[in-house]
Amino acid sequence: MSKERVVVAYSGGLDTSVMVRWLIEKKNAEVITFTGNLGHSRELKGVKEKALETGAVRAYVADMRKEFVEDYVFPALKAGALYEKTYPMATALGRPLLAKGLVEIARKEGATMVAHGCTGKGNDQVRFEVSVQALAPDLRNVAPLREWEFRSREEEIEYAQKHNIPVSVTVKSPYSIDENIWGTSVECGVLEDPMVEPPADAYQRTADPTTAPATPEYVEIGFQHGIPVSLNEKALDPVTLIDMLNAIAGTHGVGRLDLVENRLVGIKSREIYEAPAATVLHFAHTELERLTLDKSVFHMKNQLSAEYANLVYNGLWFTPLRSALDAFVNETQKNVTGLVRVKLYRGSMTIAGRQSVHSLYNAKLATYTTEDTFDHQASEGFIKIFGLPVKTYNQVNGSGAFLADPHNLFAGTDAKK
Ligand code: ARG
Repeated sequence: MSKERVVVAYSGGLDTSVMVRWLIEKKNAEVITFTGNLGHSRELKGVKEKALETGAVRAYVADMRKEFVEDYVFPALKAGALYEKTYPMATALGRPLLAKGLVEIARKEGATMVAHGCTGKGNDQVRFEVSVQALAPDLRNVAPLREWEFRSREEEIEYAQKHNIPVSVTVKSPYSIDENIWGTSVECGVLEDPMVEPPADAYQRTADPTTAPATPEYVEIGFQHGIPVSLNEKALDPVTLIDMLNAIAGTHGVGRLDLVENRLVGIKSREIYEAPAATVLHFAHTELERLTLDKSVFHMKNQLSAEYANLVYNGLWFTPLRSALDAFVNETQKNVTGLVRVKLYRGSMTIAGRQSVHSLYNAKLATYTTEDTFDHQASEGFIKIFGLPVKTYNQVNGSGAFLADPHNLFAGTDAKK
C-alpha cells in the first residue's frame, strides 16, 4: 500500500521543521512542504534545501506577493476593513491565500491531508482549516501542534536534535512574530501584560517616533477605482508601491498599533502591530472616499466595513458573503480616483490635501463668501418639516426633561432672583 501524502505549510522555523519529522513518524505519511512568500524581510533562500534535509520528499516555494496584494490586500483596503476599527489584518488576510497554495499543491501531488503549524487557541488554525474546507472539502486538516506531545520549545529542540533536524538555534526572540508585506504581528513575552508598554525591541520595522526625523515628509498617493497606483507622482506596481511606502512611513514611526483584541476562540489577547503602508493607505483611501462618495453610500459602506473585517478576521474569506460584499464595495469604488497628500511626522499622520475629478465638494455651495450659491431661504421650510416630529412629540409630552437645571447652573444669577 502506498503511503498517504500530506502537504505542510512550512516556514523553516522550529515548529514546522519538527512537524515534518513528526508527520513522517506518527502519520506514516510522505511529506511535501509548501512555503508561500507573502513578503518577508527574512531570507527564504535555503528553505527548500532545509525541508528536504528534514525529510520532505519534495519542497515548493512560491512568490505569492503579487497575488496577495492584488486579490487579498486591495479588496480589504477598498472595503475599509480594520478589525475592531484598528487592525489592518496582515496575518488574517495571508492565511486564506496560504491555504489556497496548500490545496493547489495537494491536488498536484494527490495528497489526502494538509497540515499547518498553528496552535490550538489562535485564530489562524480556524482561517487555515475553514479555507481548506471551502476549497477542498475532501482533504483532511492536520494540526500537529494541537495533538503532539511536546510541551515546550526545549522538548521540540531535543526531538529535533535526536532526529538530526537542522534547526538554527540562534538567540530566540522573546516574541512570536508573523510578518508579511501588509504588516507585522508581535505577541507573547512581556507584551502579555496589557499594562506593560512595548519595549523598544518589540518593534521590528518602524522607527521610534521620538527619534524619527525632525522634519515632516509628505507622500502623495494616487488612487484609481480605490486602488493605489502611484506614489509621489510615480506609477508603481502594487508590490513596489507598498514596499516603498512601508519604508517611508516606517522611517517616521507611523503605523505602530497596540491592541487588546477579541479572538474568535473567545479570549482577549494583546498584540503589537506594525503596518506602516497599510495605516497610511487606509487613511488616504478613506479621505478620498470622503470627497468622492455620495453621503448615503459613504455611510452604508462604513457599516459594511466592520462586517467585512469580521469576516476576514474569522477566516470566512472563501464564502458567498465575501463575494457579495466585494460586489457592493467594487460598485462604490467607481469614482474613488484621485490624489491624496499625507504628512508623516514622528509617529503621526495628517491629511495635507485631496483632489479628484469626481470630487463632490462644491466650492460654490460650501463657501461663505459672495460666491455662495446655496439657497439659504430654502432651509426655512426644510427645517420646519425635518423638525416636525420633534416638535409634535414635545407638544404632546412637554419639554420639561431638557429644561430642568440639575446642575443648578443659574443658581445665584440675577435671572433666578
Ligand atoms: N492576532 C492576529 C490575528 O489573529 C495575529 C496572529 C498571529 N500573531 C503572531 N504574533 N504570530 O490575526
